[in-house]
Amino acid sequence: MPAVAERTHTRLTLQTLNIATDTTVIRCLDWDRDRFDIEFPLQNGTTYNSFLIQGEQVALIDTSHEKFKALYLQALHGLIDPSRIDYLIISHTEPDHSGLVKDLLELSPNVVVVGSKMAIQFLEDMVHRPFKRQLVKNGDRLDLGQGHVLEFVSAPNLHWPDTIFSYDHLSQVLFTCDAFGMHYCDDYTYDEDLELIETDFKIYYDCLMGPNARSVLSALKRMQTLGEISTIATGHGPLLRFNISPLTERYRQWSEEQVKAETTVALFYIPGYGYSEPIAQAIANGIGKTGVLVETMDLRTTDLSEVRELVDMASGLIIGMPPHDGEDGEITHATLSTILAATRHHHTVGLFESGGSDDESVYPLRNKFQDVGVTEVFPPILIKAPPTDAIFQLCAEAGTDLGQWLTRDRTVKQMKALDNDLDKALGRISAGLYILTARKGNAASAMLASWVSQASYEPLGLTVAVAKDRAIEAFLHVGDRFILNILEESNYQPLMRHFLKRFPPGADRFAQVKTYPGSNGSPILADALAYLECEVITRMECSDHWLVYSRVELGRVSKADALTAVHHRKVGNHY
Ligand code: FEO
Repeated sequence: MPAVAERTHTRLTLQTLNIATDTTVIRCLDWDRDRFDIEFPLQNGTTYNSFLIQGEQVALIDTSHEKFKALYLQALHGLIDPSRIDYLIISHTEPDHSGLVKDLLELSPNVVVVGSKMAIQFLEDMVHRPFKRQLVKNGDRLDLGQGHVLEFVSAPNLHWPDTIFSYDHLSQVLFTCDAFGMHYCDDYTYDEDLELIETDFKIYYDCLMGPNARSVLSALKRMQTLGEISTIATGHGPLLRFNISPLTERYRQWSEEQVKAETTVALFYIPGYGYSEPIAQAIANGIGKTGVLVETMDLRTTDLSEVRELVDMASGLIIGMPPHDGEDGEITHATLSTILAATRHHHTVGLFESGGSDDESVYPLRNKFQDVGVTEVFPPILIKAPPTDAIFQLCAEAGTDLGQWLTRDRTVKQMKALDNDLDKALGRISAGLYILTARKGNAASAMLASWVSQASYEPLGLTVAVAKDRAIEAFLHVGDRFILNILEESNYQPLMRHFLKRFPPGADRFAQVKTYPGSNGSPILADALAYLECEVITRMECSDHWLVYSRVELGRVSKADALTAVHHRKVGNHY
């Protein structure tokens, strides 16, 4: 348990603890953060973990989110005079870990900032002041004295392209920042209770690491060349000490499954430019729901042969627009020319604006792609203001549409694959007809459902099976609320027809439908026979579906004697 744990009224607290020889963790506990980028609702807050190693020389690994400035700097001062810190190691430059780099440079102007070449470039743009630096590559070492020899592991795309891990050969602690982390805030420092954290561990993998499965496998391979690992010191959530082997094995297994996907989409953008990062992530998550692998690449890459290889291998291309000019603009023009030269008519392409101050227009590039004869599954996504939930929903749905387009042949093949008799027998399972509706902020979704069943008496509970590639899946995480609208036998056709339509990304599902808000904020359909207000309690992964178990909190029936619409099927290989 923590050495220091002070809760403040703002629910930002801090924990410092010795985790190994000469090594202290400073955990910033953000109890109430409820969202991390798009499609990443947080049930249990998050933490930002920073580490201090005091050998003969002193190294600080990552800082924290700027919202922790006062608490973090106070804790750091309690541990050491910051001007005595010799090295600041930057695992990657996303602001939740580097939000206080500027402050540290003020307190310790002579500190040597250690990071990958890309991380140092990113930092120059962030801190706008000169600083000492040391660029490191995979396998490079830094001797802090007293046996603390740090070895750096290049881990690009986990989940930014500038990422490095650091391994201390004395304490055998591997500092991985985002990788192997989870958004889970608790006073417990370690992963002793696997059951408590495994859901958040998986959601985090799916959102942040899954789209870069090949990079996860490369990093795991590099980790094998290090010595024994006593602790994986993550940048978010508990540190891994008790379940290192099962949890890293899960990363391997999930990534291998992803990589086996026959279809790949290449996603090019500039991390950190405008809103490109969360937009790209939302699109990647939407694609990921369809079982298609996403490979991301920084548009500023100078390795143009890698760009060509990726385009050759990919069935789909997504591009986040770079700035029009400046240094990044010049570099990215070469990459864009290479992408265009390697594009063929069988490619499917999607474009989005990054929402930076100087975005290159999507239209000239779109025209060039159209000249090649590519398919455009969704129109360009134009970002003119800070993205809202509705924009992120649009991005995720655009990604899913693209993934479904690329896998349409596979889906038809699977539908034909069932044994005829089995198929017909399974089709004799019948169920009711329902419309599930949900709202989060200014985003809302709905789906026609029939795989619904009461599942418990106490509490009153039900299950709904939701295909993984359904847009509404993002609204059905643990703690989310929705409404199950029950359709009436004599009056279900109009609603069923409406909600069976294929909606374009971001379309309002409720236009021209009579609704009124439920007490949980989700829409109640005025023409439904009855409705139930529900809260998601748990989800079970069932191959291509999620089985969502929910507690029923409230219910009303509009016509006491009317019957529920029933869905009789002939075959079991589709709804
Ligand atoms: Fe936790 Fe990628 O920052």
